[in-house]
Amino acid sequence: MPVYVVTGANRGLGLEFARQISQSKENILVACHRSSSSDLSDLKQAAANNASNTHTLVCDTGDLKSIQAFIDSAKKTLEGKKIDFLINNAGINSVPDQTSLSIGPEDLAEQMRVNVLGPAKTTEFLLAADLLSPKVRIVNMTSGLGSMTQSLTINPRKCATYSISKAAVNSLTVQQSGNLREKLGEGCVVICMDPGWVKTRMGGVGAVLEPEVSIGGMLKCIRGLGEADNGKFFGYTGKEVPW
Ligand SMILES: NC(=O)c1ccc[n+]([C@@H]2O[C@H](COP(=O)([O-])OP(=O)(O)OC[C@H]3O[C@@H](n4cnc5c(N)ncnc54)[C@H](OP(=O)(O)O)[C@@H]3O)[C@@H](O)[C@H]2O)c1
Repeated sequence: MPVYVVTGANRGLGLEFARQISQSKENILVACHRSSSSDLSDLKQAAANNASNTHTLVCDTGDLKSIQAFIDSAKKTLEGKKIDFLINNAGINSVPDQTSLSIGPEDLAEQMRVNVLGPAKTTEFLLAADLLSPKVRIVNMTSGLGSMTQSLTINPRKCATYSISKAAVNSLTVQQSGNLREKLGEGCVVICMDPGWVKTRMGGVGAVLEPEVSIGGMLKCIRGLGEADNGKFFGYTGKEVPW
């Protein structure tokens, strides 16, 4: 039974990942949420088809102690099973109006803590706890705004602080794709993905894609990944995105 871990699964894209993963009773899902006070009603409903194989665990990806506590809970929950798919989805875009000429130091630090250090430490700690399968597929959720090539075409430029953090997620992915192979062997694959502009709270009113379409496309791509895809940047259609 493949084991999936999704961070930020209580709403938005993470919630749709949980819904689609739960369509098969063959899957085991660890659905993470930021705190014990998160509203899990939508998540429980979304995963109702496979409730007995769904585990909701707290993981605040902006807090190292919370990530470590999550690892300890995951170890107990998984009872010796290893993670086949790790989807580092949780993210924030809390200061979209900042430009490169008005970056708030604390704001940049917060985006880096949640968007970059979160997936870095979640992966590092899961590896250290021996919870990653040798053939694990790790997906770091990035954005078209993390692509230099795409950002150069957006005029006026937008979401500078977030964009910088997502460019760092891309770089993290390249680093992890080498470092994980040194630890787990040639079977593991680490990629980053742009979900497209999706109708979620973060996507906002102008977004064009339904979550079902974005997540359906991403899951197809993730499940079809081969070893040669290690370190690549994909869009939700499975097409490669230029760095
Ligand atoms: N929607 C888009 O158009 C779009 C485009 C490109 C990239 N993305 C990326 O896709 C991912 C999901 O975005 P979304 O549209 O679903 O955003 P969203 O609707 O704002 O949902 C974000 C999710 O991340 C969680 N989260 C935020 N900070 C967290 C933390 N410190 N610890 C744990 N969970 C945390 C939120 O939990 P709470 O409910 O507790 O806040 C929520 O579950 C993000 O990485 C985002 O950057 C989205």
